[in-house]
Amino acid sequence: MTTQTQQQNKNGYFGEFGGAFVPPVLENKLKDLANFFFKTAFTEEFEKEFIHLLKTYVGRPSPLYYAKRLSEHIGSKIYLKREDLNHTGAHKINNTIGQILLAKRLGATQILAETGAGQHGVATATAAALFGIKCKVFMGAEDVERQKLNVNRMELLGAEVVSIDAGQGTLKDAVDAALGYYIEHPDAYYLLGSAVGPHPYPTMVAHFQSIIGKEARKQFLEAEGKLPDSIVACIGGGSNAIGLFKEFIPDENVKIYAAEGAGEGLDTKRTAATLNLGKRMIFQGSDSLCLTDEDGNPTGSYSIAAGLDYPGIGPEHAYLKEIKRVEYHAITDREAVNAFKLISEKEGIIPAIESSHAVALAAKLFKNKSETVIINLSGRGDKDVERL
Ligand SMILES: Cc1ncc(COP(=O)(O)O)c(C=O)c1O
Repeated sequence: MTTQTQQQNKNGYFGEFGGAFVPPVLENKLKDLANFFFKTAFTEEFEKEFIHLLKTYVGRPSPLYYAKRLSEHIGSKIYLKREDLNHTGAHKINNTIGQILLAKRLGATQILAETGAGQHGVATATAAALFGIKCKVFMGAEDVERQKLNVNRMELLGAEVVSIDAGQGTLKDAVDAALGYYIEHPDAYYLLGSAVGPHPYPTMVAHFQSIIGKEARKQFLEAEGKLPDSIVACIGGGSNAIGLFKEFIPDENVKIYAAEGAGEGLDTKRTAATLNLGKRMIFQGSDSLCLTDEDGNPTGSYSIAAGLDYPGIGPEHAYLKEIKRVEYHAITDREAVNAFKLISEKEGIIPAIESSHAVALAAKLFKNKSETVIINLSGRGDKDVERL
């Protein structure tokens, strides 16, 4: 199968989805960033520094672990890609290291970021500390409350955390605030944390996260001598999912699944299942899918997982859904909490509540199917222990 996503996406469109819908003050800025990214990020010199830091600072490659007891419980052969073992405890650091190397070359003196679960905020604050650059992180007030551990970590790392009371005080509001600040301070570097927003962010973030799938493919081939039957990831904006998927998209025999946050259910208003329920529209700089109210306006979302609690979705996923290359399922809070407990007890691994959605989906889809499966364990669950 040849899809557009295999090629470097130079204009920021995946089928009809994507683009850059921003105020004039950011238009040239983002065009320059896109040009700089394509000119710089694929050079030998850049790649060398990126991979070196991933190896020596982040601790990559992350292991691909055969989860024996979980496999016995589910009735399929389950491997976990251990992004939870990365420095700072999630996949987010892959992208922040990549983007901070761009920001450094651009001479940035201030880094901005939004965060939901706090993992991207922590990863950005970490990368900013590593390079001695000032850092400001926008976070919804509700998320500040439910992910306190990560707020403390960001502050310890020297970042300023700005709590946003607007809207529901979740990731959507943090992105709005970060974009608003960026419009007023276009000299700052906006280090976006998921494969969402205006071009070039979805393409850049997917590129830096694609290390997950590159490693997993190689590791699985080494372990099993063939490719997996299926791969699974959770999906908020879409960065850990696209990071795992990208490398497998051309492999027609590998089935690809993503688990979005159903919250309290698809038939309720308390949901974050954008790929199942969203409508096409321009939202936060990109033409993609978004949850809407009765009048067709963008609305808020709800999921127990702050990192999945987002009404938008990256344009590449909207495209992969349209061409039916990836199946997007919705997992409820309750199913995710059960999976959180299951994997903790069966494997001695406490996963992030976001990642637990992927485990829950795999447990459902592959029950007694004897399939070989890779689940992306996108992060660790320390931040969630107190609340769940
Ligand atoms: C551990 C973890 N997994 C998944 C996500 C979802 O983000 P994305 O869809 O960009 O991977 C988050 C977001 O904060 C997260 O912290």
